Amino acid sequence: MHKLYISNLSEHVGEVVSVKGWLYNKRSSGKIKFIILRDGTGYLQCVYFKGNVTPEIFELADSIGQESAIEVTGTVKAEPRSPGGYELDATGLTILHETHDYPITPKEHGVEFLMDKRHLWLRSSRQVAIMKIRHRIIKAVRDFFDDRGFTLLDSPILTPSACEGTSTLFSTDYFDLGKAYLTQSGQLYAEAGALALGKVYTFGPTFRAEKSKTRRHLTEFWMVEPEVAFADLDDDMDLAEEFLEYIVQSVMKDRAEELKVLERDLTPLQKVVRPFPRISYDEAVNILHAEGVEFEWGNDFGAADETIISGKYDRPVMVHRYPSEVKAFYMKRDPENPKVALAVDVLAPEGYGEIIGGSQREDDLDLLIGRIKAHELPMEDFEWYLDLRRYGSVPHAGFGLGIERTVAWICGLEHVRETIPFARMIYRKTP
Ligand code: 4AD
Ligand code: MG
Repeated sequence: MHKLYISNLSEHVGEVVSVKGWLYNKRSSGKIKFIILRDGTGYLQCVYFKGNVTPEIFELADSIGQESAIEVTGTVKAEPRSPGGYELDATGLTILHETHDYPITPKEHGVEFLMDKRHLWLRSSRQVAIMKIRHRIIKAVRDFFDDRGFTLLDSPILTPSACEGTSTLFSTDYFDLGKAYLTQSGQLYAEAGALALGKVYTFGPTFRAEKSKTRRHLTEFWMVEPEVAFADLDDDMDLAEEFLEYIVQSVMKDRAEELKVLERDLTPLQKVVRPFPRISYDEAVNILHAEGVEFEWGNDFGAADETIISGKYDRPVMVHRYPSEVKAFYMKRDPENPKVALAVDVLAPEGYGEIIGGSQREDDLDLLIGRIKAHELPMEDFEWYLDLRRYGSVPHAGFGLGIERTVAWICGLEHVRETIPFARMIYRKTP
């Protein structure tokens, strides 16, 4: 007999089955005891009637502790009022591992306590729902690019140089070769890939030694980065909006149950349809000024600024052409106005801020050398990258989407710490 999961019970109505899992919750009322079993695929209410079971089992149903591993046996019944739609008219109960004093109880706990117990907290229904949505988002990311002829190109994690500025680099000693750095972004390698394969994406963990303690910053996060040869900033924005629409639709279609567990308001998600508004940095600055914010042209937007700007729209907004001084060295300057870079940030609605950063890349060798010098980056580490401008250089563009910020937005979460199984932040590297 193959193993039976709660998610498959619809195929077994009327049959006697056994299911293994953990005791999620229990309650009793006189002659009836209820056990909620969880097995990772769902929840099953098991009903023990005093008259139907031995006195030993009836007692057991009362005495076992939360998160004990158990096997329940009984007849599957359709029960629309029950979570998952089925119930077990239970006759048997076997303890596989008895547990008492499970540290996380249905009462409220502080978030630091829960983060310390993250390895157990993951079992709660809310966290299970978030992880399932995260998984669905990652599947949508892969499907989207795979279905459109992109090749997955795995970029290295140990790298010789900075990609996104030298202030957020994690370094480690690398044998006789000096320092190696944990990658901040796979982009530079994706560019090599785009010139080899046309359309590629990298997808992996990226690292930033972020000293900021905010609800959006992790030190280790997952980023997907498409890169396309013969593409400009407009193509990049077209791709980004189609991509975000696809992700949101996929989650709403396949993870409705989980969004309900999280009590996510679906109205704002339903509005995530193309076309998204596209405004220039200058227009965004005007929005801030009109709201009475003192903001100087040339600065980057803070979280509060982004909230005001995105608050003007009911769907993600694409802000393009930032001052090149605040952006990375590899971004192409706008030929029409060299003060700005052909960059785009996509700001999510509902105050979630930047979830995508992208640009058209500088494809001119001499201009790129100038940018590397201006950023005081070590030229020798970028020689290989400059080769991409020496041999068959073409316009190309790409972007990076942060998975955790996307999960936080789609799930409607306060903080990115709940969006990844084991968060790494300035004050946390355990469990
Ligand atoms: O804007 P960023 O820094 O862009 C890049 O790294 C480019 N190389 C991407 C590219 O063009 N290929 O980062 C991209 C996204 C951000 O919009 C955000 O969603 C996420 O990565 N991100 C973070 N997420 C969590 N914690 C952090 N510390 C993050 N830093 C960036
Ligand atoms: Mg950015």
